[in-house]
Amino acid sequence: MKWDEVLVNAREALRGICHLCPICDMKACAGKVPGIGGIDTGGSAKNNYEALREIKFRMKAIHGVDKPDIGVELFGQKLALPVIGAAVAGARVNFSGRIEEKEFAKAQLEGALDAGTIAMIGDGPGDLYENTIDALTEVGKGIVIIKPRKLDEIIRRIRIAEEAGALAVGIDVDAAGLVNMRKSGEYVGPISCKVLEEICSKTALPVIVKGIMTEEEAVAAYNAGAGAIVVSNHGGRVLDDLPGTVSVLPKIASKIKDRCVVLADGGVRSGSDVLKFLALGARAVLVGRPVVWGAFGGGRDGVRLLYEKLADELSVAMILTSCQSIAEASTDLLAL
Ligand SMILES: Cc1cc2nc3c(=O)[nH]c(=O)nc-3n(C[C@H](O)[C@H](O)[C@H](O)COP(=O)(O)O)c2cc1C
Repeated sequence: MKWDEVLVNAREALRGICHLCPICDMKACAGKVPGIGGIDTGGSAKNNYEALREIKFRMKAIHGVDKPDIGVELFGQKLALPVIGAAVAGARVNFSGRIEEKEFAKAQLEGALDAGTIAMIGDGPGDLYENTIDALTEVGKGIVIIKPRKLDEIIRRIRIAEEAGALAVGIDVDAAGLVNMRKSGEYVGPISCKVLEEICSKTALPVIVKGIMTEEEAVAAYNAGAGAIVVSNHGGRVLDDLPGTVSVLPKIASKIKDRCVVLADGGVRSGSDVLKFLALGARAVLVGRPVVWGAFGGGRDGVRLLYEKLADELSVAMILTSCQSIAEASTDLLAL
């Protein structure tokens, strides 16, 4: 199977949910939450796309970099590429149940491992967590992102994740106002620094704080003991009119990246998008909606093909900016 065939299959399987537009600028799916889009006007998701377009490269072709090293180390794992699967969950509400939650999570986890990387899985109302954890138990390796529930419930879920083989656990703190959780009668809310400290002190796993958009919160997460942050606006799904993540990344990264792993996501669709995030300070990036295309269009193999495509494109972008390794990616690659 080729990536183009995956896209053809996915377009059919996701009919009425995602158009798989030739350019994924988040316009056609604006307001589709639940669904695959961005919330309300879709402004935050569109800003992710547009902020990436603003950033331009300085092309270089007279040099000796012909085989860049795109490997990176994260959470004690050597990854083949600096791209990991974002937590994308809620198959029942977001994809009208066209795929079972467990099957979907398995495709995300296995496709990532097949490509030499790792994926996150998510949490949500009802039996969603049970399903994603079942998938992790069967696959054996992945990262678990838990909703910002009450402290005791977060700790209970962390223990389950530890037993299932999680390499790291995280909280998507930006899900504090999530409507589908509240409608299901399950608490979500803001996490205080004190609660975050408690969480970090109660597990030996690295704790990831996902949904950081300001320097202050990056520093607060680090001070509370977080091992990593994800600069993210949740793919534009939680609050309208947030800036594109790549535009807030440089200030956050310059403040914290020597002390704490900085990850980022939002609008990554190609290897050159990946390189822009790395150049602006991310150690690695997360990819969300394209994993949905991979899983719907080709299951585990479709997801693997996505990572292979991104790896090939990233290598080309690094050759044409004379960047030998991920550690060397800096603003020198960009025409700022
Ligand atoms: C359908 C859907 C479901 C999502 N579910 C979760 C989730 O359960 N937990 C979470 O932390 N983020 C969730 N996200 C956000 C992603 O993890 C990620 O931050 C975002 O999709 C990245 O942007 P991108 O899709 O443009 O790559 C979800 C995103 C989508 C599109």
